[in-house]
Amino acid sequence: MYLDFYNLKYEPFSLSPDPRFLFFATSHKEALAHLRYGLIQHKGFVVVIGEVGTGKTTLIHSLMSEIPEKVITSFVSNPVLTRDEFFFLLAKKYGLGDVKNKADFLVRFSQFLEQAHRKKENVVLIIDEAHCLPKDILEEIRLLSNLETPQSKLINIILTGQPEFAEILNDPNFRALKQRITLRYHLEPLNLNETAAYVQLRLAKAGARDVGIFTDGALKKVYMYSKGIPRVINLLCDHALLTGFVKETKIIDDTIIRECAKELDCSGGNREGRGGHSSKERTSKRKHLLFWVIVSLLLLASAALCYVVFKNSEEYRQVLEKVLEYFR
Ligand SMILES: Nc1ncnc2c1ncn2[C@@H]1O[C@H](COP(=O)(O)OP(=O)(O)OP(=O)(O)O)[C@@H](O)[C@H]1O
Ligand SMILES: [Mg+2]
Repeated sequence: MYLDFYNLKYEPFSLSPDPRFLFFATSHKEALAHLRYGLIQHKGFVVVIGEVGTGKTTLIHSLMSEIPEKVITSFVSNPVLTRDEFFFLLAKKYGLGDVKNKADFLVRFSQFLEQAHRKKENVVLIIDEAHCLPKDILEEIRLLSNLETPQSKLINIILTGQPEFAEILNDPNFRALKQRITLRYHLEPLNLNETAAYVQLRLAKAGARDVGIFTDGALKKVYMYSKGIPRVINLLCDHALLTGFVKETKIIDDTIIRECAKELDCSGGNREGRGGHSSKERTSKRKHLLFWVIVSLLLLASAALCYVVFKNSEEYRQVLEKVLEYFR
């Protein structure tokens, strides 16, 4: 809609994980290095955890585009399945044909893994949205990783998910799985400089001749409201370009970003982002504060009650004097 107005060839802030617009912040580079290791290792699980919209799925797509030879990968993007559906899906993805039941799957899958091992091929299972995995499937995945030779595992497993997945892994019921995680990485949102570079790279890739459409003040506000979460940056910047188009202004300043953030309800203080606090953390802080307010009020009330009841008593006067003496 606004492409001609800003002399752009493509939408710069589309929400699809378009590889043309890939931007690698430090954290993205490190996460990708962990994922790459997950393709070639022979040990166990690699886990990447990141807040909503930080770029986990985008990283997996990037990884899939560079799968080395001799690596057989299977990617499960929606793991909300029953146990039977899960085995059926894996059988399809690894070309094992229709399997009758779990036992049938396990027989064929072990043969497939052993064959791959003989051909020196790596078999990798990548599961996105791991925080949505039903508990029984998570346990089945752990058991799959037990398929091994005396020297090495026959399958590498990469799991990516939102921070809730870390909480699941802390559940004592999953301690066996947790112990098998050989690499774990927390994907961080972008910092201020990375946010500015991200916006400018997207504008440049979209064909902008001038990547200074957003003023420095606007970029600071984009960071403030998005907390460096790429998906929120995209939403905010797309909305800002549309607003600029409607207002017939080719420069996006901080006022426009503030307006857009309000319209999109980007509070800037949500869970996402470096330095942000999760709603759980905030609730726990509030509970702490409430507890100490109540304790202080109770202490004050007790002191006042003692004063009213014992104010004429000599013993009370002596105790009070001792207390005052102590504090002096
Ligand atoms: N490294 C990146 N380079 C360019 N764009 C990115 C990058 N990371 C994320 N994005 C943009 O942000 C959007 C959201 O990213 P993505 O879907 O990968 O996040 P996610 O962490 O998988 O989110 P969710 O937790 O909701 O699954 C992408 O569609 C893409 O437009
Ligand atoms: Mg995702």
